[in-house]
Amino acid sequence: MCGIVGVVGNENATDILLQGLEKLEYRGYDSAGIFVTKAGEEPALVKSVGRIADLRDKVGESLAGNRGIGHTRWATHGKPLEENAHPHQSETGRLTLVHNGVIENYAELKEEHLAGHHFKGQTDTEVVVHLIGKFVEEDGLDTLAAFRQALGLIKGSYAFALIDQEEPETIYVAKNKSPLLIGLGQGYNMVCSDAMAMIRETNQYMEIHDQELVVVTKDSVSVQDYAGNVLERESYTAELDLSDIGKGTYPYYMLKEIDEQPSVMRKLISTYADDRGAMTVDPAIVKAVQEADRLYIIAAGTSYHAGFASKQFLEELTDTPVELGIASEWGYGMPLLSQKPLFIFLTQSGETADSRQVLVKVNEMGLPSLTITNVPGSTLSREASHTMLLHAGPEISVASTKAYTAQIATMAFLAKAVGDANGNSKAKDFDLVRELSLVAQSIEATLSDKDMIADKVEKLLLTARNAFYIGRGSNYYVAMEASLKLKEISYIQCEGFAAGELKHGTISLIEDGTPVIALISNNSVLASHARGNVAEVVARGAHVLTIVEEGADKAGDDIITRAVHPYLSSISMVIPTQLIAYYASLQRGLDVDKPRNLAKSVTVE
Ligand code: M6R
Repeated sequence: MCGIVGVVGNENATDILLQGLEKLEYRGYDSAGIFVTKAGEEPALVKSVGRIADLRDKVGESLAGNRGIGHTRWATHGKPLEENAHPHQSETGRLTLVHNGVIENYAELKEEHLAGHHFKGQTDTEVVVHLIGKFVEEDGLDTLAAFRQALGLIKGSYAFALIDQEEPETIYVAKNKSPLLIGLGQGYNMVCSDAMAMIRETNQYMEIHDQELVVVTKDSVSVQDYAGNVLERESYTAELDLSDIGKGTYPYYMLKEIDEQPSVMRKLISTYADDRGAMTVDPAIVKAVQEADRLYIIAAGTSYHAGFASKQFLEELTDTPVELGIASEWGYGMPLLSQKPLFIFLTQSGETADSRQVLVKVNEMGLPSLTITNVPGSTLSREASHTMLLHAGPEISVASTKAYTAQIATMAFLAKAVGDANGNSKAKDFDLVRELSLVAQSIEATLSDKDMIADKVEKLLLTARNAFYIGRGSNYYVAMEASLKLKEISYIQCEGFAAGELKHGTISLIEDGTPVIALISNNSVLASHARGNVAEVVARGAHVLTIVEEGADKAGDDIITRAVHPYLSSISMVIPTQLIAYYASLQRGLDVDKPRNLAKSVTVE
């Protein structure tokens, strides 16, 4: 979603801003802009709809400055037009602002305070900069006081970076619910919504908490609360490697990330088990699960599907019931809870606003929580009682692949650690280290069949407008994830169904040539029922592709995955479906990594 970069005190400000925005492209956006200044020179504001490459072309070679702010916008209020792109300016143009988040009371603010002001676009952000500008330009406050006064009136989520043209050395920032970091350079400082934007310049960062205002100059950072009290804040070193965020020789990040999955599985083994195969999960986390009478997994999208894929082994190994909650629903409608709940937030980014909304409620209720995330130091990690990391390395493609499989594997370590601590007999018999190593090998075997899979995808989906994934048992959850992946990057309408449920309504959609992809695992009863469901759609003209686990395979099956432990089969069964989505998108000439309308990190509710 929207991204912010800013720098003060560096002669290469333009380049730093453009490179930073390029690093944020993966988050999803539809327009972008930068504002660059230098004392004694005319400031420059450049915006464009489309890619950062278009903005770069517009900026040209000659734009020099030593301070600036930049933004990638994912439209919420107002269409993706140049006049709605950030940065926005106050009535006189003295103040310039970029903003991530949503201002809930912008219409009221406009009506109550800004009569007679002229707005160029329709955004909530433009209202905010006019409001701060009014306090400076009309009421005579200094910028810091005006910013503070505006923050007292604003309701909603925000990360702001503000420049006053008459104060050439400073950037003001503030945040509430939306991520924002300070990056510390040598003789200059930066602001960014994601450490990735500035990792080329520094690995030293400073966190900002909600309802804090920061005054950033080239050699100082003053963190304050809204009452003006100065707060101490240590910096930290980001464990990000520039090489982790490159594509290497891959055409798309998604393919690179699919290919990384065997090494992610091995990394998790070395992180969460010792040389003898004993679990090394944080004992405080094991205890938190042991003390709970019910586990509530809260997540969105792919992470929600990973929660379902983990439910059965979590229940069987921890002897604790597991309930799943869609984050965007639970934030505003918490069901009746058990006596001793533990909330588990599954989130690749650790920034998903819907999930965070639930965590805020959970914290208000004083309940314990665990965030399982790929991003150390992310908001949900900081605000939960405990964190377990996915160790998948940065996931850049909007379509989540390695984070999904890492989530299931990490949950398996958690379940096994709790089961071992409880003396659960199924946990004792479940050699997770060995089984996950076999999963890594199974993934590698599937990845070596890419050309064959690409060929089958072309035949099945090249001109398809809709498709179905069907599966039983754990494959129903894989079907949900597989269909999300296919639709989000190929734009083929696709539904994931419990295979036995088709005959209760949906089978009426099957006609001659309808693509149906059936997932069949090595469980004799479910496999035989699933085969029956396949026969039902074939009889109605469906064009069927089968993905079958070794042992359940028959002559004529299309893709065979190597057999793995049933607890982990969602991991190996999902790999062909990731490749199917990838090739379907590629063969349609789409931008695999940056599907339309979507953002990597969904920081608005
Ligand atoms: O960062 P999170 O895991 O909390 O994100 C949740 C969803 O937005 C995310 O999983 C989304 O569904 C995927 N990008 C789909 O591939």
